[in-house]
Amino acid sequence: MCRDLSSTVESAGAISRGEMLRRFLNAYWLRPENAFWMTLRSEALAEAPWRRPSIDIGGGDGVFCFLHMGGQFDPEFDVFTAVGRLDQVRTEHADMFDHADDAYAPKVTAPPRERIDVCTDLKANLLKKARALSIYDRLILHDCNNALPFDNSSFQTAFCNAAYWIENIDGFLRELRRIVHPDGHIILQVKLDSMRRYTLESWRRVLGDRFLDLIGRGRMECWPSLADRSTWERRFHDAGLRIESAKPFITKTHAHIWDIGLRPIAPMLIKMANALTPQTKAAIKNDWVDLFCELLDPICDAAFDLMPEDEPAEIQYLLARR
Ligand SMILES: C[S@@+](CC[C@H](N)C(=O)[O-])C[C@H]1O[C@@H](n2cnc3c(N)ncnc32)[C@H](O)[C@@H]1O
Repeated sequence: MCRDLSSTVESAGAISRGEMLRRFLNAYWLRPENAFWMTLRSEALAEAPWRRPSIDIGGGDGVFCFLHMGGQFDPEFDVFTAVGRLDQVRTEHADMFDHADDAYAPKVTAPPRERIDVCTDLKANLLKKARALSIYDRLILHDCNNALPFDNSSFQTAFCNAAYWIENIDGFLRELRRIVHPDGHIILQVKLDSMRRYTLESWRRVLGDRFLDLIGRGRMECWPSLADRSTWERRFHDAGLRIESAKPFITKTHAHIWDIGLRPIAPMLIKMANALTPQTKAAIKNDWVDLFCELLDPICDAAFDLMPEDEPAEIQYLLARR
């Protein structure tokens, strides 16, 4: 069983951190390092005010918000059953999740406690998957490098955990300010450029290019607007936004653990898992999730850091119009 070492910490309503970790692990079991990151994101997000109308920008397949909002999947569901181009992941850095088929129908055992009015994303396949979760009222295909397709003051809450993927970050922040109501909030979870240092990069001379390419798989190239804390805060100011709170919640230690993770072997693990009979897969997944619950529960703590003097890796900003 998953030990709940954090029974005093409530996440996403009445759900404990241990239970939240278990739910993220069930969905992302073959990438446990993503599960603990998302658990920490969810816990930070639970501290922010959330009112409708709401929008999840860069919401992808919607699984994060579905779980954050208390939704539950049958244990047989995981995000790796609907992937494609597994053979191109290593050679071409293909996005295996940018794939959808008509049969995609995750089995839901509990609906999310709250719906989100709008989800946008750049990738049609991800939005198609998000539709199957019945958490969003509207799904809109949109590139956030362009003006957002909403009227002024449309939303009380705009959430985005993908801002560092957007090249035209200053334009995007001005657009967020425009579409949020004067009493509303923008919640951004942003990565810092410390992420570039929280890798094995400084050992390149010893490890070699090939090693770092296998570990990295082109991640950093997807994040054109990574910046340090003061640059993010200057960007918010220049966009006419006021910082109501800033909560660092991913540490240097978390980032180093995530840097290695199971990323290089994920395509093989996924092929192997999907080739198993449903019964064998369920039994192995059950033991796997139990084990990672125990291993990751203690580090699923926003303060867990062996090197606390260094910059965090991700911060949640609660922003409002100035
Ligand atoms: C790390 S994923 C996060 C997805 C989701 N929010 C989650 O937590 O699982 C980043 C998302 O941003 C989307 N994205 C990247 N660039 C974008 C852009 N320019 N406009 C809109 N969405 C974008 C990607 O398609 C992807 O779904």
